[in-house]
Amino acid sequence: MHTSSDCLLLGLLMSSFLLAVCRTSGGEAFKPNYDESKVPPYTLPDPLTLANGEKVTDARSWQARRRPEVLGLFQTHVYGRSPGRPMDMTFELTSQIRDALGGIATRKEVSVYFTGRKDGPKMDMLIYLPNNAKKPVPAFLGLNFGGNHAIHSDPGITLSRQWMRDSKEAGVVNNRATEASRGKEASRWQVEKVLQRGYALATIYYGDIEPDFAEGWKMGVRAALSPKGADTAFAPDEWGAIGAWAWGLSRALDYLEADADLDAKRVAVIGHSRLGKTALWAGAQDERFAITISNDSGCGGAALSRRAFGETVERINNAFPHWFCGNFKRYNLKEADLPVDQHQLIALIAPRPVYVASAEEDRWADPRGEFLSAKHAEPVYRLFGEKGLGVEDMPPVNQPVGDTIGYHIRTGNHDVKEYDWEQYLKFADRHFGR
Ligand code: GCU
Repeated sequence: MHTSSDCLLLGLLMSSFLLAVCRTSGGEAFKPNYDESKVPPYTLPDPLTLANGEKVTDARSWQARRRPEVLGLFQTHVYGRSPGRPMDMTFELTSQIRDALGGIATRKEVSVYFTGRKDGPKMDMLIYLPNNAKKPVPAFLGLNFGGNHAIHSDPGITLSRQWMRDSKEAGVVNNRATEASRGKEASRWQVEKVLQRGYALATIYYGDIEPDFAEGWKMGVRAALSPKGADTAFAPDEWGAIGAWAWGLSRALDYLEADADLDAKRVAVIGHSRLGKTALWAGAQDERFAITISNDSGCGGAALSRRAFGETVERINNAFPHWFCGNFKRYNLKEADLPVDQHQLIALIAPRPVYVASAEEDRWADPRGEFLSAKHAEPVYRLFGEKGLGVEDMPPVNQPVGDTIGYHIRTGNHDVKEYDWEQYLKFADRHFGR
């Protein structure tokens, strides 16, 4: 028999349990908001207002005063601080074939030894160069999810021996890739199309830099470059995995600068999803990247955190505790306290061209939030006399818009499709004056 006070207690316990389930996002319990009318009211930090309240009104003071401030905020509160180029880093061309892909391309494989030691940490880059284009050629550079051998069925690409997420379906057994994964991600790379348009394509497996799981850093550059190795205790403003992957992209650009076949001044850094977040952070920090492309990057990428639509700061920190810096966890369920929002990440890329792409069915990544970030980065582009996005409203599906900031939302799911590449190629042609 239950007394009424028992029932009351039970009721209270139940409701606090339910509240806890709703507020924490561990496992299945997280319920994303997909209702536009339930987006909390928010005020975005003004990209142009300095910490002391003064407003910057010209490109020079943005560059000299506000840009370093905003970059510092992203380092301290979101992605963490990354080191620079290691002094002793070396490159090695490990293979070069001039008649790859039926003769249309030269295929190079390059190892980047971060500490200069061949038995030390390294990443392996795959590069395809168009044979019929005048050198040096512009390039697209991006990290891949499944190993370099997964981006094309070309049997000559070295099969990655690094740790992979285990999925037999994707041709991975006991965390090692098998031949069955060759070409598995080909639809996401459109290699021939890129080459036919006169661009090189350079890619690296992101797991070479850091395997993507909570303890993966112990096998990656964050441990390898730290004096305490796998015993390192990171300060709350030190780099997370996204910081490490973005750092790897900058090291890849260091190589492209040293290769006379490539025009390192015309490199577009591109990434999808978590690697889209990474591409944005790379493009924001490293001003050598001429173009930055974010494909469906979502939360912690192009999407505004304050909208808490789809994936939220709390959910991403719980599910992927290694991606961001320790300080970012302070903003779980407290997006309004963030000293920045993601439109300022895009603003850090100004005046260089940036492209933000969404997919209609990818509500988890908040397409509207991605559009709004691009839109609210505009004031900084204007300081440079650039139009930025140049439209007020989110365009209908499959109707790309934009000027220095490009944007589209295509039909379909969370992926990189031929349609996306077509827009990126047009955008690059336009900005590279081709
Ligand atoms: C998850 C994650 C996203 C991320 C995506 C991906 O869905 O929640 O933030 O973008 O994985 O990288 O595929």
